[in-house]
Amino acid sequence: MASSGAGATGDKYTCAEDGFGDCPCHTAEATRPPTIPKELKSLKVTIEPGSAKYFCTCGESKSFPFCDGSHRAYNAANGTSFVPTKVEVAEGEEPKDVWACQCGHSKKRPFCDGSHKKVKAVGAAGAGTA
Ligand code: FES
Repeated sequence: MASSGAGATGDKYTCAEDGFGDCPCHTAEATRPPTIPKELKSLKVTIEPGSAKYFCTCGESKSFPFCDGSHRAYNAANGTSFVPTKVEVAEGEEPKDVWACQCGHSKKRPFCDGSHKKVKAVGAAGAGTA
């Protein structure tokens, strides 16, 4: 599913370097950015042995970057097939740290690739606040 350019998903953020045209927010097929971007930084999540975390790929979760089940209603309304990305650590393994994307610009969503360093918040007057 492709998004449709400025305003569709980038109403709070824009790329400081690339602009909307090349921004993964507007080109990624497998994930949608959060409809309400939270932070211009990643979130470190530790997954303990014998447990799993589910990361949102549909962008609709109220608990972003974690899945809250909102993809089901979004899929039904839009004919899409988003599912969360599961990260699991088996019993007996070491805890695993992952860094979740919260800005929506990562090319590796739902994981951070450092792209938040290239984007800036856009204020009401369009002024960047990176
Ligand atoms: S709420 Fe987005 S993938 Fe589940």
